[in-house]
Amino acid sequence: MQTNRIAVVTGAARGLGQEFAVALAARGYPVAGWDIADQAETAERIAHTGGEFLPVKADVTEPAQVRAAIAAVIRKFGAVHIVVNNAGIYPPIPFEKTTIDDWHRIMRLNLDGPFLVTGAALPHLKASGWGRIVNIVSAVVFLGPPDLVAYTTSKAGLVGFTRALANAVGADGITVNAISPGLASTETAARTTGADGGFERVRAMQAIPRTESPADLISTLLYVCADGSGFLTGQTINVDGGSAFV
Ligand SMILES: NC(=O)c1ccc[n+]([C@@H]2O[C@H](COP(=O)([O-])OP(=O)(O)OC[C@H]3O[C@@H](n4cnc5c(N)ncnc54)[C@H](O)[C@@H]3O)[C@@H](O)[C@H]2O)c1
Repeated sequence: MQTNRIAVVTGAARGLGQEFAVALAARGYPVAGWDIADQAETAERIAHTGGEFLPVKADVTEPAQVRAAIAAVIRKFGAVHIVVNNAGIYPPIPFEKTTIDDWHRIMRLNLDGPFLVTGAALPHLKASGWGRIVNIVSAVVFLGPPDLVAYTTSKAGLVGFTRALANAVGADGITVNAISPGLASTETAARTTGADGGFERVRAMQAIPRTESPADLISTLLYVCADGSGFLTGQTINVDGGSAFV
């Protein structure tokens, strides 16, 4: 399938972002991946699909780097239609051990990042009269795990961002939705939330008793981005195997 919709995926070097970039590229969306890390692995996977990929080195919390990244995408592809705000961190820290620096670090990437990236891309989405903004949140916004207070706060903020922004840009042909994974088997999850029996604990809470894989999120991403989903906006779609019913 060939599509002329250009996608930006943040945090595309590994984990969910890599899976999102590969899935979109394989379906004909030219994809720009923005990351502070090397994206060679993503580029190689996309090359196998025959898709188009532009890796851009960019820290999404730095306004000048975000501006330069959007300029690079416009130079290469001429437009931006889809923004997947995926880059994020979720370090488990007990609330009473959370320092103000931890708090700011988490808010900076998980909230300032989507704010800056969306702000830079928006004029281009508006110019096309068509756009999809997809924010990756987390089922923690429904569950509130005790060791993820700062993270839960940041993702709940992103749910609010999703709703209010949907109202702000709906008249421009742009939808804004959030997808909330449960605990998905990325390397970072295995090292953090999934460590010490974390995957087993989460599995026991789910209606579907297996560990979520990054591939489980793809059909929802494609659905939200589809042409036919132009009346779906402001929503948080929970894809967590049924650990939280919302
Ligand atoms: N894996 C899960 O179980 C899970 C569950 C719910 C939500 N999420 C959310 O999904 C997203 C991805 O999670 P993941 O497990 O794939 O994480 P990950 O650590 O595997 O990938 C995150 C990517 O973001 C990049 N990144 C970090 N800081 C950046 C910055 N300042 N600028 C640009 N890129 C930066 C990293 O280099 C990395 O490639 C996060 O927002 C996370 O909160 C993940």
